[in-house]
Amino acid sequence: MTMPYETMPPHTLIFFVILFLPFVVLLHVAVKQIAKISKRKQQQLQVDGLPPSPPGLPLIGHLHLIGFLPHISLRHLAGRYGGDGLMLVRLGSVPTIVVSSRRAAEAVMRTHDHLLASRPPSTVAHTLLYGSRDVIFAVYGDHWRKAKKILTSHLLTVKKVQSYRAVREEEARLAMAKVSDAAEMGLTMDMSELLYSFTFEVMCRAVSGRSVKLNGTSTLFRELLDVTETLIGGFNAEDYFPWLLRVGTYRRAVCTRAEKVRKRWDELLDRVMDDHEGKLVQQQEPDFIEVLLSHQHEYGFTRDHLKALLVDIFVAGTDTSYIVLEFAMVELMRNPHVMARLQDEVRHGIRNSHDMVTEDDLMNMAYLKAVIKETLRLHPPAPLLAPHYSMTEIHMDGYMVPAKTPILINAWALGRDTSAWEDAEEFKPERFMDTGSETTVNFKGSDFQFLPFGAGRRMCPGINFSLSSIEIMLANLVHRFNWEVPTVTGETCLDMTDVFWLTLRRKEKLFLAPKMVEM
Ligand code: HEM
Repeated sequence: MTMPYETMPPHTLIFFVILFLPFVVLLHVAVKQIAKISKRKQQQLQVDGLPPSPPGLPLIGHLHLIGFLPHISLRHLAGRYGGDGLMLVRLGSVPTIVVSSRRAAEAVMRTHDHLLASRPPSTVAHTLLYGSRDVIFAVYGDHWRKAKKILTSHLLTVKKVQSYRAVREEEARLAMAKVSDAAEMGLTMDMSELLYSFTFEVMCRAVSGRSVKLNGTSTLFRELLDVTETLIGGFNAEDYFPWLLRVGTYRRAVCTRAEKVRKRWDELLDRVMDDHEGKLVQQQEPDFIEVLLSHQHEYGFTRDHLKALLVDIFVAGTDTSYIVLEFAMVELMRNPHVMARLQDEVRHGIRNSHDMVTEDDLMNMAYLKAVIKETLRLHPPAPLLAPHYSMTEIHMDGYMVPAKTPILINAWALGRDTSAWEDAEEFKPERFMDTGSETTVNFKGSDFQFLPFGAGRRMCPGINFSLSSIEIMLANLVHRFNWEVPTVTGETCLDMTDVFWLTLRRKEKLFLAPKMVEM
C-alpha cells in the first residue's frame, strides 16, 4: 500500500530527496547537454554547404570539362576540386555528386545507402522498360525490392548458377573448337567476336534454353541487345537538360524512339514466352523464363514485369562479362610473366588428362581468380557504376547533398587510387595472392576501394553468374594454346584506346593468333 505524502514521516521524505536528488541533477545536465548537441548539430547542418565544384559555364555547367571518357575527366577534376572525395558538377542543368574516395564511397553506399539507393529518372529507360518495371532503373521502393528478390532468390542463386555448368562447359568447348581450327590453319582470330559470342550464348541458353540456339532466335536477341545499348548508352540530351521534355515534340520523339525498340522486344519475348507457356520448350533444368513464369503470381507480376526483367538481364549480364574476358586477355598479352604463371597453374591444375578444363578443376586455381580480380580492378566494365539518386537531403562529411540529386561513384578511379593500392596502375594479380599486399581485399562490397559490382542495396546480383563464365573460358583459352599479337607492318601492337558507351570497352577489336601446345 502506498503512503500519501501528507502522512509520510519527515525522515522518509529526507531519505527520498537524498536518493533522488543526484538523479534529478543528472537528468537536468543530460537534457541540457542533448539540447546543446542538437543545437550544435542544427547549426552545423545549416553551415554544411554543397561539395566543392570546379568553375562552370552558364547553361552547360561543367559538360565542357567532361570528355568522351567521363571517368577519366571526373578523376582529374576530383583531384583538383574534390578534396574529400566528394565533388559537385553540373551536367547541363543537373547538379550531380561525384564520389572519388574510399571514405566517400563508404558514406554513400553503407552509411547513407538507405537514402541514396534510388535511380535518377530516365525517359528512355522508363519507356523501354515497361514503365521502369525492371530492377536496374527502378526507383527504390516496393517494386524494386520484389524484383530484386525474384532475381536473387530464384534466378541467380549459387545453386541455380551451378545448374548451368553443362551449358558453360559446352559453349566453352564450342569456342575452343573454333580456336583449334584457327590454330591449325595458322589464322588470326577475332577474339572480341569469339568472347562476345561465348558470353552471349551462355546468357541466351540460361534465359531461354537450348531452343534459342536451334531456331535462330539468339541472332534476334543479339540484334536487339545492340539497339538497346545504343539507345540507353547514347547521348540523351534530356538527361542533362530535363526541361527539354516539356517541349511536346521533343518528348514525343524521345518516347517514339524508345517505344519502337520496346515493341521489338515485345514481339520477340512474347513469342519465346508463349512457347514456354505452351510447353513447347521442355528441359531438365528450368531456364529463367520458366522460373519467372512459375513465380509470376506469387510476386504479383504481369507479363510486362517479366519482360522488363529479361531485358535487364541481357543488358546487365552480357557485355559486362565479355569485357572482363577481353581485357583479361589483353593484360595477359601485355604481361607475359603473368601469362606464363597462369598457364603453368592451369596446365598443372587439371586432375584428369582431359582436353578441356572443367569446373571441377577451377576450384584450386587461385592465380586464375587473382588475374580476374586484377582485371576487374583496372578495367571495371561499368566505371561509374549505375547512377545512384538521393531520395532526401542528407548531410555527410560536412557537406549537404540535396534531395533528388544523381550520384556517380567513380569505381574506376577508386581501383587506381594510389593511397589505397600499391603500384596502382600496374597489372599485378600477385597482390591478391597469399603473400600479396591486398590478400584480403575483395569485390563483395565491403572494400570500398574495389567496387566493380557496386555495394549496398544496389549491388550487382549477377556476380556468381558472370564469374563462372569468365573463369571457365579464360582457363580454357590459356590451357592448350599460346597466343601471339599479330604484327602490323613488322611491329606488334595492342591498341589500348577505350570507348565509353553503356560500359567501358576497347575501341578496337582484339585480334590474336593461337598456337596449339602439345600436352
Ligand atoms: C563482370 C560482370 C558484371 C559486372 C562488372 C557488373 C556490374 C554491375 C554494376 C556496377 C551494377 C550497378 C551497381 C550499383 O548501382 O551500385 C550492376 C547492377 C546490376 N547487375 Fe551486374 N554486373 C555484371 C554481371 C551481371 C550479370 C551476369 C547479371 C545478370 C545475369 C547482372 C545483373 C545486374 C542487375 C539486375 C543489376 C541492377 C541491381 C539493382 O539496381 O539493384 N550483372 N552490375
